[in-house]
Amino acid sequence: MTKIIKSYCQKLDKKDPLAHLRKAFYLPKGKINMDGNSLGPLPKSTKKRLLATVQQEWGDGMIASWSNAGWFDSPIRVGNKIASLIGAADGEVIVGDTTSVNIYKALCAAIYMNKGRRIMLAEKRNFPTDIYMMQGISAFADGKLVTKTVEPEAILDNLTEEVAVLLLPHVHYKTAAIKDMKAITQKASEKGVLVVWDLSHSVGSIEVALNECQADFAVGCGYKFLNGGPGAPAFIYVAKRHQSKALSILSGWMGHQDPFAFTDDYTPAPDIARFRCGTPGILGMAALENGIDLFAQTSIKDLRQKALLLSQLFMDLMAQECGEFGFTLASPTEDEKRAGHVAYSHEEGHGIYQAIKKEGVVADFRTPDILRFGITPMYLRFRDIYKVVQLIKKVMETKAWDRPVYKIRAAIT
Ligand SMILES: Cc1ncc(COP(=O)(O)O)c(C=O)c1O
Repeated sequence: MTKIIKSYCQKLDKKDPLAHLRKAFYLPKGKINMDGNSLGPLPKSTKKRLLATVQQEWGDGMIASWSNAGWFDSPIRVGNKIASLIGAADGEVIVGDTTSVNIYKALCAAIYMNKGRRIMLAEKRNFPTDIYMMQGISAFADGKLVTKTVEPEAILDNLTEEVAVLLLPHVHYKTAAIKDMKAITQKASEKGVLVVWDLSHSVGSIEVALNECQADFAVGCGYKFLNGGPGAPAFIYVAKRHQSKALSILSGWMGHQDPFAFTDDYTPAPDIARFRCGTPGILGMAALENGIDLFAQTSIKDLRQKALLLSQLFMDLMAQECGEFGFTLASPTEDEKRAGHVAYSHEEGHGIYQAIKKEGVVADFRTPDILRFGITPMYLRFRDIYKVVQLIKKVMETKAWDRPVYKIRAAIT
């Protein structure tokens, strides 16, 4: 293979049809953000949007903004924008709460629809909250509902008529491995098992086709690839065909069919609105909507195409420049099996993560030994990838990772 040099990466930047998107973001000097898979950077327009929401809508408009500024409808409006990114239709996605809370709502809705079945199935080593939410439900169900976790390759064999619901990540949070949503959903459906897909690491990063896959439920985060800001509201998808049967366990007043009738008895809204619970946080919603609106300037298909080129360049450069330093690729090598980040395992991963952070590389670390590098094509340049690998090489050559202070596990990685 011919050696990859800096000028080659610069040439790729010149030819990049998405290069203009970068200027939409605030990107501090001296830092390269390879963590957009965890917290997307600040879009410049979000600052303006938040100021307008605070001053004009809240300050001047006051309570009338619930109708005049579209606050009340925002969970559905923003939900529809997300729906267009994940292969869903208008009225199938609603925004609010956290991903963990939406997992709880989706699991309970599936359990309600599949009464009589006692197993909630998940794979081992999935993102912990997914499993913890199941365990929480089990704890309250007095043995009537059990959480079962199995090895990822054993999922299909465990789809029995006792299983009420299967919860899976579409993209694995450590490795970025993509699951075959269509095949798994179909196998589950043959056994009457409802599936909840966690799209946290796929929404805004890869093409998702919920309706084409006949998906039942899905949830996902707003603060990662959607650039919605820290703690942005999450979303839940409920297939239209299930909406009249699926109940939200969090039967708050905003999910009522007529919230402002203020009646004593709960009647759920006839549609996705039943998955609202309480008053939406409008500042978070405004930031999320602004982040999502950036997607109107491009398409997931084009973003994915660039992300794959960036990922390949990163892996090739890591092999070329850092091959001798003990990194093992933890992500799938095949493009169609790997989503929006590239992960390496390394026994000194924690120290390396800390040392490259000092050099301005914003990545993250997942215990026990995984370094994750987010490949976010809206603002990353090919020359950034080159620079990041040079900085990793520097840290490895100088053994900067070996400082005693880097041996102490940071509380947040
Ligand atoms: C796959 C996955 N699911 C769920 C969550 C948790 O989301 P939240 O903190 O919004 O509940 C995360 C957070 O990183 C995640 O990566």
